Amino acid sequence: MSPSPMTSAPRALPGHPHLARRDTDLWLEGVRLDDLARAHGTPLFVYSKAAMLSALGAYQRGFAGRQATIHYAMKANSSLAILQLFARAGCGFDIVSGGELERVLAAGGQAAKVIFSGVGKTRAEMRRALEAGIGCFNVESESELEVLSEVALACGQIAPVSIRVNPNVDAKTHPYISTGLKGNKFGVAHERTLQTYQRAASLPGLKVVGIDCHIGSQITDGAPYLDAMDRVLELVQAIEAQGIRLQHLDFGGGLGIDYNGDQPPAADALWAQLLARLDARGFGDRHLMVEPGRSLVGNAGVCLTEVLYLKPGEQRNFCIVDAAMNDLPRPAMYQAFHGIEPLQQGASRTTRYDVVGPVCESGDWLGRDRDLAVQPGDRLAVLSAGAYCMSMSSNYNTRGRAAEVLVDGDQAHLIRQRDSVADQLRNERLVG
Ligand code: LLP
Repeated sequence: MSPSPMTSAPRALPGHPHLARRDTDLWLEGVRLDDLARAHGTPLFVYSKAAMLSALGAYQRGFAGRQATIHYAMKANSSLAILQLFARAGCGFDIVSGGELERVLAAGGQAAKVIFSGVGKTRAEMRRALEAGIGCFNVESESELEVLSEVALACGQIAPVSIRVNPNVDAKTHPYISTGLKGNKFGVAHERTLQTYQRAASLPGLKVVGIDCHIGSQITDGAPYLDAMDRVLELVQAIEAQGIRLQHLDFGGGLGIDYNGDQPPAADALWAQLLARLDARGFGDRHLMVEPGRSLVGNAGVCLTEVLYLKPGEQRNFCIVDAAMNDLPRPAMYQAFHGIEPLQQGASRTTRYDVVGPVCESGDWLGRDRDLAVQPGDRLAVLSAGAYCMSMSSNYNTRGRAAEVLVDGDQAHLIRQRDSVADQLRNERLVG
């Protein structure tokens, strides 16, 4: 598709430097979003390559001069072309399933730069990860240690392990995405850590290589990271006093993004603070790892959708669009806020709407109390849709998963075709 000509200086949307209004139209980098919606239909996810690389750049600046690996937590967005982009930019990956490992390999990523997190790894997943040569298993329980050692020995291998510790700090985020408190299913309890490391060191199929923690997601305050780091470093000292050397320290992911005026610290500023603390405690020369997901992709993506109907009501007005909770599950699941912007700004007066999808659930809303000047046939962009949207999408109501486009300057690449109904029915069988 040939790019449309630009006429005046773009006005970037606050918090979205690669998304700009030019005259009445919304552009992502050098591409007019309405052109993409016309060419590919809606709902349509569109991502900015420059936005992802600039988010990654903040981490790379933060770790400049250090021995460090950025493992993209691919659960945030695991589309192959996105993985390919991060692999080419030098990232490793944090995975949580055998399926995610196959995606990394299919995208050209290196198994040696993969770390495998998650509380419920199966034996088959462990075998496959060992066979592929992954960098490290982030083990989340004592029973998992025993199984991993057994599986590794049966494969004639030694599994590299790090133990995920639960530092018992409050990340002050939504309860569903807070993971570092005692009541969570994640990690090994702070007070059991030492015994767990001793056990790991004694198992013949394991080699202890590191320690990791992850305290939650959409964290907008640096303080919980500093607390978690202090608690992890106390553990490192105690573990090493037992003669178990830790080559790497992994501080997880979790840094938030600006959804609605949120002000998380920038990754480089946060890491300057954290590294000063590490240096002061004498751990600055270790191999450092992080597992960011949302902060690398969240604000690089939008989901384009078309207004189907306007339905005025006594109590609320509804703006019914063709994207739904199956495409954008975060509002229904976490009451999450996503900005909503018209692709072409009209001159008419705004009306207050609940923006809802066609799915048969009252929870199927994308935005509440939004002031919009729209007509049926107009198109909207749901903002901050690069993370935990496509990767959490479903076929509920036999709706096909949306298509995806990656924008690079004035080029637009279709990176995923829309699901057809045949795609959805492919694996099903009638009886008899
Ligand atoms: N490492 C581990 C072990 C994790 O469990 C997670 C996310 C990450 C890294 C990446 O965290 P991030 O940098 O993306 O915050 N679906 C929810 C978020 C779930 C996060 C799960 N774990 C949402 O849409 O808000």
